[in-house]
Amino acid sequence: MNCLFVGAGSIAPEYAAGLSESSLSLAGVVDLDGDRAAALAADHGCPSFTDLEAALAAVDAPLVVNLTSHAAHAPVTRAALEADRHVYSQKPLALDADEARALVALARDRGLALGCAPGTPQAPSQRRAGRLLADGRLGPVGVGYAHAHVGRVTDWHDRPDSFLEIGPLYDGAVYPLALLVAWFGPVERVRVADVLDVWPERENRRPSTPSHVEATVAFAAGPTVRLTASFYAPHRSREFYGLELHGDDGSLYLADAGATATDRDSVRFGRVGREYVSAPPASPEEPYAYVDAVERLAASVESGSPSRAGGRRGAHVVAVCNAIEAAAEGGGPAPVDDCGATADSPPAPVVRPAASDERNTTGRDGATPGEGAGRTPGAAAIRLPSVGFGCSRYRDGEYVERDDSIATALDAGYRLLDSAELYGNEHRIGELLAAPGAPDRERLFLLGKAWRTNHRREHLLAACAGSREELGIDAFDCYALHWPSALEHRGELRRLAEKPVERQEALTFPEDADGDLATADVSLATAWANLEAVYEKGWARTLGVCNVSRAQLETVLETGDVDPALVQVERHPYRPRNDLVASCHERGIRVVAHSPLSAPGLLDEPALNAIGADRGLSPAEVVIAWNAARGVVPIPSSTTESHVVSNLAAGAVRLTAEEIARVDALRDPDFER
Ligand SMILES: NC(=O)c1ccc[n+]([C@@H]2O[C@H](COP(=O)([O-])OP(=O)(O)OC[C@H]3O[C@@H](n4cnc5c(N)ncnc54)[C@H](OP(=O)(O)O)[C@@H]3O)[C@@H](O)[C@H]2O)c1
Repeated sequence: MNCLFVGAGSIAPEYAAGLSESSLSLAGVVDLDGDRAAALAADHGCPSFTDLEAALAAVDAPLVVNLTSHAAHAPVTRAALEADRHVYSQKPLALDADEARALVALARDRGLALGCAPGTPQAPSQRRAGRLLADGRLGPVGVGYAHAHVGRVTDWHDRPDSFLEIGPLYDGAVYPLALLVAWFGPVERVRVADVLDVWPERENRRPSTPSHVEATVAFAAGPTVRLTASFYAPHRSREFYGLELHGDDGSLYLADAGATATDRDSVRFGRVGREYVSAPPASPEEPYAYVDAVERLAASVESGSPSRAGGRRGAHVVAVCNAIEAAAEGGGPAPVDDCGATADSPPAPVVRPAASDERNTTGRDGATPGEGAGRTPGAAAIRLPSVGFGCSRYRDGEYVERDDSIATALDAGYRLLDSAELYGNEHRIGELLAAPGAPDRERLFLLGKAWRTNHRREHLLAACAGSREELGIDAFDCYALHWPSALEHRGELRRLAEKPVERQEALTFPEDADGDLATADVSLATAWANLEAVYEKGWARTLGVCNVSRAQLETVLETGDVDPALVQVERHPYRPRNDLVASCHERGIRVVAHSPLSAPGLLDEPALNAIGADRGLSPAEVVIAWNAARGVVPIPSSTTESHVVSNLAAGAVRLTAEEIARVDALRDPDFER
């Protein structure tokens, strides 16, 4: 769609930068400063103007992008709407709520789209924070603190006049306000507000409105947020555009409510009673471009329903700013006009296990698997995050405490937990999942495993029942055989971690009279058939198998009625299992890589260090990204918080083909543990 830029100041190049990647083309540029307009227009091969009316008459552009200085936004938007142009306006939409409402009404009456910056609620960090909120991790949100420390505009802006005229409220506060309105819906009232004229005596250029504003705003949906907008507090202050929200179950810290760049530590979550932990992106994030919001507005026009949602939200933000001024002046609460602002719908969940009725189509509720009902699909039914978290207590021949690191992983945003009855800590994971601030069950992929001593049907069913009870879940997302071969059953393994170590060993690695492992005569085909009983009961949405060779996988596929959805094997650069991975992927079976980092010497490999050094990644992150590149889900375990976070974030790293080849070259056919 053709668009006309009105205003060629410092923000215009930011919008122009994204044009070549967008469906928009620049058809003209207007600025009172003819040289500025001409320079930008020349870059895009379009005409320039110094007069808006002349430009509107001359340029065939259905969309006006209003990038003028603050006070000019409303009159320029009005002129463009009156000329039947759709408009995307820089913030604020206007300086007066009546004027802002009138612009929305004008756009509505003419059937035109009206959008308003900031588009940053759609930027990567803000979306990530929004997902935590939408996932209910904070519980009901009670209070928050938002900062907009615009700083000394006379220091950092080459043309500060327009800023000094309107003050920090209409320039800076609109970022956190727009974000909070996107999350919580409209502000109901400003409870209290105060303004200050604080400014260094030595400065000649001074704001003509208060330089520092404090207000407490109450959202209709519940939260009360204390907002500070300041030209006096420097933009390098610790709380620049920091936003912190506190709920019944947890707290969220967003380092910069107006940020456009992606930063893995910018979102932090603290479950109630626990330290904050970074919640990094776990898969690649879409970079933010200023022009994205304009493109979305153009798309709404092209689809035949011109959107005014951004305009309404922009008008409501102006109404909040007006009410803050009124409250500061009148000394009391000030109601805020809703202006049609509404909360965005919650974002899609990260992990969506198959709906139970999909699963019901085969194998359950009447249809007998193997009797013409068709094979039950495996991985078609599951969607996995890029990286999962290993919950084993076993570490270098010892058992280690995992409760704290599993809680940290859940808080950082891991969505796949690899558990097993062997790990003996399912009841502790169950407690973590039941505690306030835990992710909803629907957001998690829980992978469980029956140990080798439980391959007989009655033992498998009892093992799965026990694990479900300890975890407090109705069904696993995937339940797997921990090992293809069976050992003798010497008793149930519930709450294994609470038993003395010798007893744990005797139960899990039983010995015969000669001190050899006591095997049981249960073939893999039989064990798989027994595992299918778990599926038949609806205790697992899908089934899986660990530590299999290709031949053993064939056995499962040939003899079973339910296809495995998932295969878990040891996989790392020394032992990439490429044949098995390819064979699984051909059949739609997902591969999970256990022990991805712990192969002796792996993390000291010069090649991994060299790739990491070039990319600012640790060797472990390179290995995780290498797995993700192949569509394999690694499940590293860690008890070190920084590793927990960086391992998850590595799932969002994309290695180049050349880097992948360098890691592939580490393959060692003789590797053995
Ligand atoms: N199905 C099976 O038969 C099977 C077998 C083995 C394992 N598993 C699963 O796989 C999971 C992971 O396997 P694993 O625990 O054996 O080994 P791993 O995850 O490959 O390695 C864990 C070791 O790597 C270190 N580490 C983790 N992240 C690091 C980082 N970013 N930088 C440097 N070091 C890092 C850990 O130390 P820190 O704690 O200090 O980070 C720990 O010493 C298990 O928890 C389990 O769920 C399954």
